[in-house]
Amino acid sequence: MRRRRLFLLGSAALPLLTLASDAMAGNGGVAPPDSATGSGSEINELYWILIGILAAIFLIVEGALVWFILRYRRRKGTPYEAEGPQIHGNTRLELIWTGIPLLILVILMVVTIVKVPSVEARPSADENPLRVHIGGHQFYWEYTYESGVVAVDTLRLPVGRPVELTLDAYDVIHSWWVPALTGKRDTIPGRTNTLSFTPNKTGVFQGQCAELCGVQHAVMRTTVEVVPAEEFEAWLEQQAADQAGASVSLGEQTWQGVCAKCHGLDGKGDYGPTIAGNSILADETQLKQLLTQGRDNPGVSGYMPAVALGWPEDDRQLRALMAYIASNPDLAPAGAGAQGG
Ligand code: CUA
Repeated sequence: MRRRRLFLLGSAALPLLTLASDAMAGNGGVAPPDSATGSGSEINELYWILIGILAAIFLIVEGALVWFILRYRRRKGTPYEAEGPQIHGNTRLELIWTGIPLLILVILMVVTIVKVPSVEARPSADENPLRVHIGGHQFYWEYTYESGVVAVDTLRLPVGRPVELTLDAYDVIHSWWVPALTGKRDTIPGRTNTLSFTPNKTGVFQGQCAELCGVQHAVMRTTVEVVPAEEFEAWLEQQAADQAGASVSLGEQTWQGVCAKCHGLDGKGDYGPTIAGNSILADETQLKQLLTQGRDNPGVSGYMPAVALGWPEDDRQLRALMAYIASNPDLAPAGAGAQGG
């Protein structure tokens, strides 16, 4: 008898202990990552309030359940057909179990409404926010700074300065999400969204597209590097100078972020077909047409999305991509160095 009771108590306690140790484990358990922004910290606070209330409800309900099972189990000698007392209605009890949930919801609503402005963290114009445009594409992120500097998949930001992101999509819905910075924000075709925050720590933060957007959704990752302000300004200036011509480094980012996710880093094919050595890679007119219109061959399953929508109008990025391909003997079509075609 005693042993059975111990067993019952043990099986009830085990999931609770597991939950508690998970919570202690920090990031990777039930805890969100430490935030590197004020708005992210506000979101984490809301999360802990919610988890606290949920944990209390869980303990009360499950505790009562276990208690009732033990306390009111059928005793030896009680006939099988015996019924407990039949109770109909208890006004006070019903008021309590309606009133408490109502109160909890009201508390959550008030706390949430109070926190919305600090989560949104809209910078005013005199805070001199850094504005960056995010283009969500199958299957990469294109970052464009106000000066026209472009980056693929890796966003650099200065620490301590408010950031105002505007987000668009060029094919399907994606969702920009860097959990250590702030909440996620969808990129939606035909609608421009915004997202603001101020990074208060330097570091490298990993993100991931959080909206199932096609076969390569899983590899649609992003990295945010938050660096000291002077380092950022120097980097931005150097990028502007570099990208004025056909920048091999921008071309390499574009190859890796845009082309390689489907065609393989070496262009030998992955989900998409082999393209290494294809003559189109050295033909600006044909390549531009392919990248801005995509391709849907009815004889082949799958299609090539129009990946270059929203690229700089002066074709800098296209030429940068071609310059990188021409510089890479594994990818360049034979004879492209002399005169492509
Ligand atoms: Cu883009 Cu998932």
